[in-house]
Amino acid sequence: MKIIEVSDYEDMSAQAASYFIHKIRNLPTITLGLATGGTPKGMYMNMIEDHRLHQTCYQNVTTFNLDEYIGLDDGSNHSYRTFMNDTLFQHLNIQLSNTHFPAEEEQIEASEFNSYDQFIKIHGGIDVQLLGIGENGHIGFNEPGASFQSRTRIVQLTDSTRQNNARYFENLDSVPTHAITMGIETIMNSKEIVLLASGSAKKAALSKLLEGEITEAFPASVLHTHPCVTVFADKAALV
Ligand code: F6R
Repeated sequence: MKIIEVSDYEDMSAQAASYFIHKIRNLPTITLGLATGGTPKGMYMNMIEDHRLHQTCYQNVTTFNLDEYIGLDDGSNHSYRTFMNDTLFQHLNIQLSNTHFPAEEEQIEASEFNSYDQFIKIHGGIDVQLLGIGENGHIGFNEPGASFQSRTRIVQLTDSTRQNNARYFENLDSVPTHAITMGIETIMNSKEIVLLASGSAKKAALSKLLEGEITEAFPASVLHTHPCVTVFADKAALV
């Protein structure tokens, strides 16, 4: 696991965006795994700015998002599909039909694939998977205790995750209790993984990750067993 220490959120966002832009330019047909949440927003803004200034091409890029809430109204402002369309996709020349979410794919019945994992496999796998980290060590919505062999599935969110995400909703009661998430094995099948962590709220999780103990009680610890992981972490998350 390679750790890149950056000074703050802006620096992390700029460096991580450059990292991804370099990959996209080198492999215009790249398949990316993407995350939502506060952490990658700045990186997405940098990618949009680069696209505006330098026309980095997303025409043949495919994306698979990590997760999606279950039980929201169709077209809800809170869905991760809406988040990604608003925050990134509509500002790039990506084809929306090349952007995928687990809840949507699971609903496709009359096709040769029957799960998100197989769908990803048919597309040749994920080249670079972007991750944030939960304060409890979750990756995607794989909460503590999730099996390292888990695949894409419906999961119950922990109270702490619902409380953390309540800032994006009207109140805690409106936060869904369930989500569909790539499993840990799904994430680990990616050829490369990039994890971003910023701010003092992530300090405890990051220090636990860097301790190195590998346990299902702390999902992110599985990343120590992947051959190609880069962590961009700012000082506030590291010190
Ligand atoms: C988001 C996701 C989550 C977040 C994590 C950190 O798609 O899968 O694991 O990456 O909860 O969220 P933020 O970035 O909001 O602190």
